[in-house]
Amino acid sequence: MLSSDEIRGIFVGFFESNGHIYVKPSHIVNRNDPTLMFTNAGMNQFKDIFLGNCNSQYKRVTNSQLCLRVSGKHNDLEEVGIDGYHHTLFEMLGNWSMDDYFKKDAITMAFELLTQEYKIEKDRLYVTVFGGDDIDKTCFDKESFEIWSNLVDEDHIVLGNKKDNFWEMGNVGPCGSCTEIHIDLRCDDDRKSIHGKELVNKDTTEVIEIWNIVFMEFERLDNGKLRRLDKHFVDTGMGFERLVMVLQGKKSNYDTDLFFDYLCKLEQMTGIKYKNDDVTDVAMRVIVDHIRSIVITVAEGLKPSNILEGYVIRRIIRRAVRYGYSFLNLKQPFLYEFVDVVLNKYNVFKYNFIVDSEEIKRIVYNEEKSFFNTLRLGIKRIDDIVSCCKNNNTRVVDGGKVFEMYDTYGFPVDLTEMILKEDGISFDKRKFDELLLEQKKRSKNDVQRNDIPWNVVDGGASVFVGYDNIETQSKILRYRIIEEDNKKFLEVVFDITPFYGESGGQVGDIGFAFINDKCSFEIIDTKKINGDMVHVFNDCFIDDSFDVNTTFLLKINNDRRALISRHHSATHILQAVLRQMFGDDLHQMGSKVSADKLRFDFNIDRNLTQEEILMVEKNVNDIIKKGKVMIEERDVDINEAKKNGAMMLFGNKYGDKVRIISFDDISKELCGGTHVKNTKEIGTFTILKCKNISSGVRRIEARCS
Ligand code: SER
Repeated sequence: MLSSDEIRGIFVGFFESNGHIYVKPSHIVNRNDPTLMFTNAGMNQFKDIFLGNCNSQYKRVTNSQLCLRVSGKHNDLEEVGIDGYHHTLFEMLGNWSMDDYFKKDAITMAFELLTQEYKIEKDRLYVTVFGGDDIDKTCFDKESFEIWSNLVDEDHIVLGNKKDNFWEMGNVGPCGSCTEIHIDLRCDDDRKSIHGKELVNKDTTEVIEIWNIVFMEFERLDNGKLRRLDKHFVDTGMGFERLVMVLQGKKSNYDTDLFFDYLCKLEQMTGIKYKNDDVTDVAMRVIVDHIRSIVITVAEGLKPSNILEGYVIRRIIRRAVRYGYSFLNLKQPFLYEFVDVVLNKYNVFKYNFIVDSEEIKRIVYNEEKSFFNTLRLGIKRIDDIVSCCKNNNTRVVDGGKVFEMYDTYGFPVDLTEMILKEDGISFDKRKFDELLLEQKKRSKNDVQRNDIPWNVVDGGASVFVGYDNIETQSKILRYRIIEEDNKKFLEVVFDITPFYGESGGQVGDIGFAFINDKCSFEIIDTKKINGDMVHVFNDCFIDDSFDVNTTFLLKINNDRRALISRHHSATHILQAVLRQMFGDDLHQMGSKVSADKLRFDFNIDRNLTQEEILMVEKNVNDIIKKGKVMIEERDVDINEAKKNGAMMLFGNKYGDKVRIISFDDISKELCGGTHVKNTKEIGTFTILKCKNISSGVRRIEARCS
């Protein structure tokens, strides 16, 4: 039987021998794209190539990408564990043609790999082909149909509609018809009684899709119409866990070697055997699935928190803990004990994990521990709700209360429901669902923003020179109009810019774009999207009569930038002082650096005394007064930086080359932000507030003047 590593190796080897270059998978935590939290398809890293914003280095590419589908458009979280096929983290095997081969080679290679290399019987394969769509005026994919007709019997080809056979990245963006490959895993008798063709795309567990081959030929515009692309791309994605299940002859992904080590460990830990009882089986699948997502994302530098990606991971940890607590009698932290097992399994990826295994264990352990407290407190809150119901003689709880438990306190709704049920109490589900829908709408709006297409003036790359310059002569690379809260904004990416885009906790620059002495436009914010500095104007001055090849003088508001830099440098000194005073376990959990103040969140499980707060302030000011010189090192190899003890924090993008900011022997951090040259420039550091923001996390707000 082939092992999962061998199966992956055969895929990559096959495409390499067909002229494809293996490219490294991208990080799962998508730090440079604020609207796409996690990588959710192999094609994400090629999105700008498809959009025509940049060129591909290679004509043929292959890789294996870890994907997380727990937020935004693709969200499988609540399904995971219930069946044997859904996962939070899964691996997608892919091959891409960048304006090279098209339908014939893509289909023939896929068929050859499945039937000759993996030796899957061709009679078990069914394929779907796009049947056309009247509204889009797209036609039946005759070419793919004919190619497939030469490879499989015609009664193994199914015509599909737009829903199944026209793949789109989002509401707008690159898209095209696709042909899916399905496999029939039923026994011979069942196959004889119902033809496999009848079960394709019918949500059965034994006739399932394993590979999707997309022919990117169009761009979906925001007016809903399709524009034919100048270039042709092939984008394929095969579900690795499912492929392994098929090739290892199993009925569930959890029965493959991919999950074996985790299930063994969980059995030892609980003394409960997998496949003994439906209820404990679900809990075991939830845990062995979730632990992969947890360890890999934390290894990539993500910390559980109450915002954005951190919150998603917090929810996954809580779901796993809750299943362990309620169904496997795990009443103490246990997830952290899986860290080494997961890392061993993923060594094969040679990922640039930035957090070592001990640190991952510490982060996961602390999060679990605090959730066990939440569980106990949550159970107490529910007890109060139950008493209140009993006193008022009612058996239905307000849905808003349950939503608050879920949204604010992170208490899983199914757990609330289960506990209430024990006292014969239900809750107003309709109100709960309404509130949930509103919350989902809010996050969907965030996702859609990134789907608004750019008008490309020039396809070159954008360069940020704002560490050394405050003004530049710049030309437009691309622009778009964004509508938010009934207001329109113009977003522009320039070829070169001194404007810092909001990232790593530091706010974006503001300033002006001058065309000549008389004509200037105000830049009200700068964001960082996909690595580019995106300048936001509230005057949408580009219209048909505007010459988009105009040269601008871009000038940042340098007084404001100086204030921001002072607060950013003070944040580094503050972190160093807190660690000196309270130990190296203390870390940044979030930060916001602006012109008027800084905000710094850190982990500590108690309140600081008034004396300690004054001492922190004094120690920071003592360092500032000493006039420590800032040393900036650019383009440092990430491994070198790690070796030299540079602190790596979530919120920055860590590529192979990183930037290090040090203040003498006081502090050394990976950082993309702007800083003072000497701590004396920071001025006087005053703590405005020190408060508790969530369990185990305190926030200091301070101002430099
Ligand atoms: N992008 C397509 C998918 O995610 C094929 O890779 O299914």
